[in-house]
Amino acid sequence: MQIVAPPRFGVFFDQPPPLSLYIHFPWCVRKCPYCDFNSHEFRSVDLPEASYLKAFEADLHAALPSVWGRRIETVFIGGGTPSLLSAEGLDQLLTMVRTLLPLHVDAEITMEANPGTVEVERFKAYRAAGVNRVSLGIQSFNPQHLKVLGRVHDADEARRAASLAQEIFPRVNLDLMYALPHQIQAEALEDLEIALSFGTTHLSCYQLTLEPNTPFHRHPPELPNSDEAAEIGDAITARLDHAGFRHYETSAYAKPGAECLHNLNYWTFGDYLGLGPGAHGKLSYRDHVVREVRHRHPRAWMDAIADNNSALQSSERVPDKDLPFEFAMNAFRLTEGFSLDLFNRRTGLPIQRFLPTLDALEKKGLVRRDTKCVAPTELGSRFLNDLIQAFLRDA
Ligand SMILES: C[S@@+](CC[C@H](N)C(=O)[O-])C[C@H]1O[C@@H](n2cnc3c(N)ncnc32)[C@H](O)[C@@H]1O
Ligand code: SF4
Repeated sequence: MQIVAPPRFGVFFDQPPPLSLYIHFPWCVRKCPYCDFNSHEFRSVDLPEASYLKAFEADLHAALPSVWGRRIETVFIGGGTPSLLSAEGLDQLLTMVRTLLPLHVDAEITMEANPGTVEVERFKAYRAAGVNRVSLGIQSFNPQHLKVLGRVHDADEARRAASLAQEIFPRVNLDLMYALPHQIQAEALEDLEIALSFGTTHLSCYQLTLEPNTPFHRHPPELPNSDEAAEIGDAITARLDHAGFRHYETSAYAKPGAECLHNLNYWTFGDYLGLGPGAHGKLSYRDHVVREVRHRHPRAWMDAIADNNSALQSSERVPDKDLPFEFAMNAFRLTEGFSLDLFNRRTGLPIQRFLPTLDALEKKGLVRRDTKCVAPTELGSRFLNDLIQAFLRDA
């Protein structure tokens, strides 16, 4: 008699999802008034690079058992302003990563850089150390807008940084923000034209949002209203479509093949180890998924490592019932959708835990679906929050 195992309704992975590494560098020359990222001005003190690297090494060592034997597919060094790291400092950081973790030979290694901190020799050294993709926080090429945004760089530095990045790195992303104080559509499109003139193959265009606990939230500048902002967003998408870019994620545009593999791993609900202050991680084990958060303030992160040999503020099992919502929150940002079997491969849950909500959303016209692919409709992308909330309600 053949014994048939009962169907599993909980998490079970034959194989864990692909694994990426995020490294957070928490300092900036000056805090921008709209920014709520974990970034801290170091104006009054020297950049504590040596202490950061020492703590990073300990953080990495302590994290190794959580990812034993797993290959790292992509690395993203974000901030803050990682381009404040010296050439030697960045080289040490990547050497530690390569020595202690199995890194894919062709791993995408991205570094965020601020145009106000660009130097030719340092950029060349970053490239020699292995960085093969740079993401530049341009925001705008317009002198007035850069001033209102409190950026440390001016329009000339923005142009110089974009052209230098393009010369030195094989892959470049430029971050632009739109719907800026008093900005009209023509100005946003002019920023876009200048960005395109450097030949970049990847652009991230973010609508400026007023984040709680920022000076812009406390003293809001006058912004284009929501209809005007949506019109600017649509005009950006149309112009980029014409230039051969695919709008592959809510704010990301790429020429075919130039998509950011690291971010795609987040949006397809892959795993990631997060190191550095405030870094988040998501790691899958045979029958459960864990979320980790590291201490947020650089001082607290360094002290925790020195005192307890662990930077973790929390490490919690994600309840199985939350996984469909978490998967949806990421995967429905992909405008061109995902294959239905991705749900099981990334959450470890049977597809039955996904289908009833998906069917209901399809009936409401928020999701479209064929035998291979699930994607948000135009309406679904516009009301993404409602779409995603449905998975929370049905949990
Ligand atoms: C983590 S930041 C780091 C980039 C780098 N520190 C810089 O600013 O040059 C990544 C991007 O998020 C965007 N961003 C930050 N705050 C934002 C906000 N309040 N609204 C919209 N986009 C924002 C900016 O385009 C920024 O370049
Ligand atoms: S440089 Fe970037 S991370 Fe730093 S404060 Fe400005 S927006 Fe935030």
